[in-house]
Amino acid sequence: MSGAANRRIGILLSGRGSNFEAIHRAIAAGELDAEIAVVISNREAAPGVDTARRLGLKTVVMPSQGAPREQFDRELVRVLNENQVALVCLAGYMRLLSGYFVQAFPQRIVNIHPSLLPSFPGLDAQHQAFDYGVKFTGCTVHFVDEHLDNGPIIQQAVVPVLDGDTYETLSARILAEEHKIYSKAIGIVLSGAYRIEGRRVVTV
Ligand code: GRF
Repeated sequence: MSGAANRRIGILLSGRGSNFEAIHRAIAAGELDAEIAVVISNREAAPGVDTARRLGLKTVVMPSQGAPREQFDRELVRVLNENQVALVCLAGYMRLLSGYFVQAFPQRIVNIHPSLLPSFPGLDAQHQAFDYGVKFTGCTVHFVDEHLDNGPIIQQAVVPVLDGDTYETLSARILAEEHKIYSKAIGIVLSGAYRIEGRRVVTV
C-alpha cells in the first residue's frame, strides 16, 4: 500500500472471540491505531462470527474440517492478501498453521496464549498451570513461527494464582489481562518501533 503505513489487520478465530472484541474496543476507543480488515473463522458456529457480523465487519467463514492443511492455508493466505492485511492476529484460532502460511507472513503473525510461555504451551494452558500448582501464571503475545507457541515474545502479563482460585476464576483473571496486552502488542508491531535480537523483541 502506498501513503500511510498499512494498519489493516486480519483476525483469525474459531470460538468465543473475546480477544477479537477487546481489539475492536481498543480501536474504537482510539487506544489502538489499526483497522480490522477482515475476520475469518474456520467454524461457522463460532460466536465470534456473530459478533463480527453484528459489528458490521467483513466476515468470512471458511470451514476447515477435513480440509488438507496446506490447501486450506493457501486459500486463507489468498483471502488475507485480497484484504491487504499487514498483520495476522490469531485470536483463539484452534488450528495448526502450515509452514506455507507462516512463510507467507514472515513475522507478521501474532498469537495470544493463556500462560507465561515457555511454560504450559499447547491446549488448556490455564488448566495445566492450575493443576501444576504454580503461584504465578499469566498470558503471552508472541510472533508465530513454525513451532507451536514458540516465536519471540512481544508482551506478557503476570497473574497470581490465589489459594481460593478455581480453574474458572483463574481463567477469568488471565483473560482480563489477555484483553489488555493483545492490543498493546499489536500496536507495537504495527508501529514498527521494535527490533528482534535473537529471540528478544526490543522496543525502540
Ligand atoms: C484465549 O484464552 C486465548 O489465549 C487462547 O484462546 C482463547 C480464546 O478466547 N489462544 P477468545 O475466543 O478470544 O475469547
